[in-house]
Amino acid sequence: MNASAHARRFLLLAALLVVLIVPGCHRAAHTVAAAPPRPTQYQVEIGRTIYKHDCQACHGDTGAGDGSNSFNLDPHPRDLGDPAFQKKKSDADLADAIRRGGSGVGLSALMPPWGHTLNDRQIDAVVVYVRSLKR
Ligand code: HEC
Repeated sequence: MNASAHARRFLLLAALLVVLIVPGCHRAAHTVAAAPPRPTQYQVEIGRTIYKHDCQACHGDTGAGDGSNSFNLDPHPRDLGDPAFQKKKSDADLADAIRRGGSGVGLSALMPPWGHTLNDRQIDAVVVYVRSLKR
């Protein structure tokens, strides 16, 4: 095979790669640009169940920080429904505090870490539920 046949083969291969890869990239770029999915009612319900089971004793029915065990906690859990607090924290901040616990994010160690108990979907759902507590 001479040099120009080599070059032609190379070009053909390169063109084939472009045809195969470019549409894939296009699709990937599209996925990244898409807005995050809006929480569904199903997610809220899962979050509510987790919250009642794992969070309510400290954080209270409405997130006000007045759960049955909250009086033994110093500091008391803050009011999760406070609009100013809700505005200040991103979903990622809330998920981080829930996943790593107070000691993981520079808060009181009385807030337990949940990253080994709840999976990512459950944590996302409980964040959605915490959002629904906003007054
Ligand atoms: C044993 C009591 C207890 C339980 C159970 C508990 N928390 Fe907490 N949580 C706390 C305390 C106390 C703080 C406040 C820590 C601080 O301000 O230093 C806190 C803080 C938080 C924060 C961060 C608030 C901030 O200032 O950024 C979030 C979010 C949170 N809890 C959500 C949850 C969720 C969701 C659950 C259930 C999966 C849960 N907590 C379970 C005691 C608890």
